[in-house]
Amino acid sequence: MKKQLLIGGAQVETADYTTLHAPYSGEAIAEIANAGLAEADLAIEAAVAARPAMRRMPAHQRASILYRVAQLLGERKEEAARLIALEAAKPLKAAYAEVDRTVQTYQFAAEEAKRLHGETIPLDAAPGGEGRLAYTTREPIGVVGAITPFNFPMNLVAHKLGPAFASGNAVVLKPAPQTPLSAFYIAELFAEAGLPAGALNVITGDGKLLGEKMTTDPRVGAISFTGSAAVGASIRAMAGLKKVTLELGSNAAVIVDKDANLDAVVARCAVGAFSNQGQVCISLQRIYVVEALYEAFVEKLVAAVGQLKVGDPLDQATDVSALIAGREVTRTLGWIGEAVERGATVACGGSAEGGILLPTVLLNVPPDAQVSCKEVFAPIVVVGRVGSIDEAIGLVNDSTYGLQAGIYTNDLRTALDAADALHVGGVMINDIPTFRVDHMPYGGVKESGLGREGIKYAIEDMTELKLVVINRN
Ligand code: SIN
Repeated sequence: MKKQLLIGGAQVETADYTTLHAPYSGEAIAEIANAGLAEADLAIEAAVAARPAMRRMPAHQRASILYRVAQLLGERKEEAARLIALEAAKPLKAAYAEVDRTVQTYQFAAEEAKRLHGETIPLDAAPGGEGRLAYTTREPIGVVGAITPFNFPMNLVAHKLGPAFASGNAVVLKPAPQTPLSAFYIAELFAEAGLPAGALNVITGDGKLLGEKMTTDPRVGAISFTGSAAVGASIRAMAGLKKVTLELGSNAAVIVDKDANLDAVVARCAVGAFSNQGQVCISLQRIYVVEALYEAFVEKLVAAVGQLKVGDPLDQATDVSALIAGREVTRTLGWIGEAVERGATVACGGSAEGGILLPTVLLNVPPDAQVSCKEVFAPIVVVGRVGSIDEAIGLVNDSTYGLQAGIYTNDLRTALDAADALHVGGVMINDIPTFRVDHMPYGGVKESGLGREGIKYAIEDMTELKLVVINRN
């Protein structure tokens, strides 16, 4: 399969192509076009040309296109999930869940398209404001540059395209080099749903080159990026006065209080730590358990991990498959080795089978070991023993990241105090930090990012607030 760029509604050839390999089997699955600066320029130009059509398009039509994409994707769930499983090594059952969520994300976007509104402002609240009527509107920013990661190759694309189109923008999309097929697949659905040519342009190739071009080109009004903190920081530094939304990483944590229902909590923790091989920005990486429950918790968690089936992502029974690239196995084994050298113990896992890092539980890990303080993005979870909830909160907050955190407790005061004290973008009480549904505000503090996604919230960064004042005096 050969995948050209999508620019201005046409498939565009490039001088060279890169072979895309399935991370699990290693088989060559497609030839992907490499865009250079000239093609990136054309893509931005095409988006600029589509701006008037998108800006003029009535809300009901924007909503219908988004609803139609949701419907088409729902009808093709099997095909779409298999594509995700193939190119991202996401186990099929997680890939089905991603397709379901993507359908919902486009449905939420369609709904938001219909309720995009401003407000009236009582100008007479200020002396001199009498006799004036003021209202605000939300105007599309014009062209949104979307840069997306490999870990949710359909739904995180939807979190860029959904709000951008709902609010009347055109888009240049640069999907992750590892997962371009999902992005091209969605682009085909948008064409079928009637999106004007040029409103969605998809360019693939050197991420740094294309990302820099999109970020620095004045015709692109906003950048929405999901990925690493390092790349996020460089985008922000390059973007100047451009609006930037950054969804970055984390080393998300959960606290388990003394009254927690261990069986239920352990089951959720196994999901939170190992879904999609831990390659999730809110993957559960650190668990802090109060002393009284620690031993029992570890025993149950190790037993639960033993039930996970590792293997082929296209096998319906698989829970954990290959990491996105072989070098990630090498990196994470190195991080495990470092922790062990510094006194950590491996309760299970700790080794690899081919491209699969076996689900790993580590104990007695120093807080400044990489597996604890950096974003591990792999099926590794660290379990720590704490003397109090305050100590646990201190450990959770002792991080350069702050995306989401969780606490299991039946004590209302403890829960609310933790909600106040945890320095993160979202606190999940009686759940893991990995919880997300697609209309909730989602984003982080510190190095976890800037701005919020969740359609309605993302639209704020993809639109400009305009004020109109009518003088009736
Ligand atoms: C992410 O990895 O940033 C997204 C997590 C999710 O949508 O569940």
